[in-house]
Amino acid sequence: MQFEFNEQQRMIRDMARDFAAREIAPIAAEMDEQEKFPADVVKKMGELGFMGMNVPEEFGGAGLDSLCYTLAMEEISKACASCGVIMSVNNSLVCWPIETYGNHEQKEKWLTPLAKGEKLGAYCLSEPGAGTDAAAQSTTAKKDGDGWIINGMKNFITNGANADTLLVFAQSDPELKYKGIMAFLVDKEAEGFSVIRKEEKMGIRASDTAQLAFDNVRVSESQVLGPEGSGFKIAMSTLDGGRIGIAAQALGISGAAYEAALAYSKEREQFGRPICKFQAIQWKIADMATRLHAARLLTYRAAWAKDQGGRYSEESAMAKLFASEASHFITNEAVQIFGGNGYSKEYPVERHFRDAKITEIYEGTSEAQRMVISSMELKK
Ligand code: CAA
Repeated sequence: MQFEFNEQQRMIRDMARDFAAREIAPIAAEMDEQEKFPADVVKKMGELGFMGMNVPEEFGGAGLDSLCYTLAMEEISKACASCGVIMSVNNSLVCWPIETYGNHEQKEKWLTPLAKGEKLGAYCLSEPGAGTDAAAQSTTAKKDGDGWIINGMKNFITNGANADTLLVFAQSDPELKYKGIMAFLVDKEAEGFSVIRKEEKMGIRASDTAQLAFDNVRVSESQVLGPEGSGFKIAMSTLDGGRIGIAAQALGISGAAYEAALAYSKEREQFGRPICKFQAIQWKIADMATRLHAARLLTYRAAWAKDQGGRYSEESAMAKLFASEASHFITNEAVQIFGGNGYSKEYPVERHFRDAKITEIYEGTSEAQRMVISSMELKK
């Protein structure tokens, strides 16, 4: 066991840290306030190789390991959690399944522009009636000659209004239950596809979350990802990796809130001394730092486990569960240390507090993570 990053991992972390400090942090509060999609930042992240970090160079990616991706996600999210989730969805939820389940032509056509950051992807699983119960898909896929017709509605889709490529899950035969679910690659220009509305959100306000409609959208056989009926397993195994990305996003949010609160506790004086001299604040700092470090260990371990091959569902669910709940705790304590100033938009911690909440919800709620973890534990 060793706890050192290698040279490449350190280099990627430093590059992401430097880019985030220069190009993202100065505009993060404004993008949040204005709910402004960071198109320029996304373009630059693509140029730096951050949009397809684990994709082999052959298909336009950076060919890096999962820990490099995790470290970069953490640094980007520390500056702006919205930029973090845009990057995470493209890398983990769209590039990864195409690389893993796609054939060579699909990788050339769909994966390469996504990995280069020339196109943006969205993962379309959630529906009004299929949230935690992801298998309850009501979007349908009907065989039609040499292709398929997709009909249905998807909601809470990150990147939905800005994506070029949609990975869409749909039920081809309800009698087969989850075994009837299929995965399709759909172009945003497809006839019958539309963005119905964008959600107004508490946090991650610069990333778009959209409701999408598929009205008789025709796709060819070449747009089916993986073998027929394998869609649910594609969806679930993709989320195993996605959850590491969200755990890393939570680490970034936590780190930003923790560092801001630590610095503030040394500056802010009450009763004639800095508030960090009071045990009430010192204990908060100890608890925040401990949870942040524990969350990092679980997340980095999950990233390492992903690269070992084999199933890592439990490691990623534990990382996401713990890192997101730690983020909730840490950002709440950060606001508390800032007191009235923490509640004000003049300081960044209120944004971190709002951004942290979603990490306990998307890519599987904390309750769903506990279902995954307990089912794995009970099989032992
Ligand atoms: N990898 C491979 N196969 C898997 C798997 C995985 N991680 N998880 C399940 N499977 C397989 C099972 O082995 C089983 O196959 P067999 O019958 O052959 O053994 C099959 O899939 C069905 O599994 P379950 O019985 O466990 O399925 P379930 O319907 O009970 O679901 C669940 C369990 C854990 C609740 C799951 O539905 C789940 O994770 N729900 C949360 C959904 C979610 O995370 N949604 C997020 C939406 S995406 C999003 O938020 C993105 C965004 O925009 C940011």
